Amino acid sequence: MVSDKKLDQMDTLIDEFRMRVKDSSQRAAYSDVFDEATLMALYDLAKKGYIDALGGTVNTGKEANVFHAISKKENMPEIAVKIYMISTANFNAMKEYILGDPRFVGIKQSRKDIILAWAKKEFKNLMRAREAGVRVPDPYITKRNILLMEFIGKDGIPMPQLKDVEMTREEIQHIFERTTEYMNLLYCQAKLVHADLSEYNILVDMNNMEPVIIDMGQSVLTEHFNAETYLRRDVTNICRFFGKLNIQVNENEMISNIKEDKK
Ligand SMILES: Nc1ncnc2c1ncn2[C@@H]1O[C@H](COP(=O)(O)OP(=O)(O)OP(=O)(O)O)[C@@H](O)[C@H]1O
Ligand SMILES: [Mg+2]
Repeated sequence: MVSDKKLDQMDTLIDEFRMRVKDSSQRAAYSDVFDEATLMALYDLAKKGYIDALGGTVNTGKEANVFHAISKKENMPEIAVKIYMISTANFNAMKEYILGDPRFVGIKQSRKDIILAWAKKEFKNLMRAREAGVRVPDPYITKRNILLMEFIGKDGIPMPQLKDVEMTREEIQHIFERTTEYMNLLYCQAKLVHADLSEYNILVDMNNMEPVIIDMGQSVLTEHFNAETYLRRDVTNICRFFGKLNIQVNENEMISNIKEDKK
């Protein structure tokens, strides 16, 4: 339950930073899920002009909540606000992906520090993926446990996950090929393995039936001690999904295909 005190705090902050919350019933949802430090970080982002209006919930997960928001950035009017939950995130599972990453050597291993590093890690991974030519949400800024990025969707409605899209044969084939191409670019150019790739973490842009890869917090550098295991798991997931849709798949062939530097 949301305490009156917290709702009051929320109102004060809204007034103080002149941040517009589009739907007033959302206020309770926000105060329910955010601790004070997260609220402050959110309002700091609003004050600095990164968030103009906070909209509705896109997804409530165990690890993170995703909200829709309007930004002031010209080329990125709609943004997704992904907030990692410090209290409920599966911190032991997260550790494995952070500790083998040379970009995060020497970080403190407290719950809080791991989760704060996680948001930064997702930001960096999205940036690397994007630079390698993989279609991902364009990362905007990260602060504390909050990541702002391009909203994949329109007018607050997110594009669907691959698992929910009805496709023609040609579209299935195209998305399969594009996904393999992206896995290759990730591996050979960005030097990353997604490590949680499946029909859940691929959105489909319905305007052009192109896949958009999301959720890269757990993605690791190819030099990570478990990178090969994660790559095989990704390939298994992708082959299982497309195999069921009658696409000819061969896991070993796909792995060598991904690792082949086509530059
Ligand atoms: N940039 C985005 N634009 C539009 N929708 C998004 C964006 N990022 C995430 N979403 C939506 O939020 C959902 C959850 O996001 P994501 O996969 O990044 O988080 P998660 O940690 O896996 O959360 P969960 O544990 O609930 O799966 C996605 O499946 C998608 O529907
Ligand atoms: Mg996900």
